Amino acid sequence: MSSYVITGVSRGVGFEFLRQLSENPANTVFGLVRNKAAVESKVAAEIGRKNIHIIEADTTDPQALKKAAEYVSKQTNGTLDYIIANAALQAKTALVGFDTLSKDPKALEEDLIEHFRVNAIGPIHLFNTFMPLILKGRAKKVIAISTGASDPEMTLKADMFQATAYSMSKAALNIAVAKFSALYRQKGVLVMAICPGAVDTGSLQIESEEEGKLAMAMFAKFKEYSPTFEGPSKPEDSVKSILGLVNKATVDGGYAGVFISHTEKKPYL
Ligand SMILES: NC(=O)c1ccc[n+]([C@@H]2O[C@H](COP(=O)([O-])OP(=O)(O)OC[C@H]3O[C@@H](n4cnc5c(N)ncnc54)[C@H](OP(=O)(O)O)[C@@H]3O)[C@@H](O)[C@H]2O)c1
Repeated sequence: MSSYVITGVSRGVGFEFLRQLSENPANTVFGLVRNKAAVESKVAAEIGRKNIHIIEADTTDPQALKKAAEYVSKQTNGTLDYIIANAALQAKTALVGFDTLSKDPKALEEDLIEHFRVNAIGPIHLFNTFMPLILKGRAKKVIAISTGASDPEMTLKADMFQATAYSMSKAALNIAVAKFSALYRQKGVLVMAICPGAVDTGSLQIESEEEGKLAMAMFAKFKEYSPTFEGPSKPEDSVKSILGLVNKATVDGGYAGVFISHTEKKPYL
């Protein structure tokens, strides 16, 4: 019954969005990826549904997004119900703070710019490109997947010095979401940012013993921020909860332009 465009569906939370949303054969789900052949094989092997379309588009490339929108438009007769901007970069620089990163100022600068490009500017291009379709859709919901790490409160409560570029770029995403809401709320478009909580996706791809120790130190900060935190949730549970919120949220219900947890409560973990 509904059409969805989701970015970053090759793995993790994005792949789970693809799986859950395609369960309803009446839905049409468009997944944007960087390696179409690899993701099509994975989808065929692990999901195997005809209502999934995999489209190759780096979300930082406006031309690729334009072509993706043309493809979607042909399939949907020019409309789209939901966008979920899920693709993101969290590089291993997240394991350390500005003190360590300051040893190579050029690399620090490039790390910041790359996180901004993928996590904030990419969703801006995505929303601009697909907004004409959304305006003709029924649901009119535009969702950005953000993170509690973008809320200064989490940083301050546990002195969480890690995840510098990642947190900053997602904070930029949150304000971009508010700006899109300011533009389109009166046209009935809900634009909001949602934190999925900590989810076990292996996104940091820890390889060495040293990286393992740094990851544990970050984990300890999570626990300090939220003493009840018992570890990351499964992608199935997080996505189910996010979709529950997406279905419930409306422009008039106080959700326009906000950044909130999938649980609608703090702490984020
Ligand atoms: N996991 C958590 O604990 C957690 C916590 C808070 C927030 N989040 C947020 O939840 C979302 C999903 O997280 P995750 O853990 O599932 O991430 P993940 O496993 O690292 O997957 C990231 C996805 O983004 C894609 N991607 C990265 N750069 C891209 C680009 N330039 N163009 C197109 N696609 C790109 C990746 O594609 P490739 O396969 O091509 O690299 C991959 O599909 C992210 O927005 C993340 O910030 C996650």
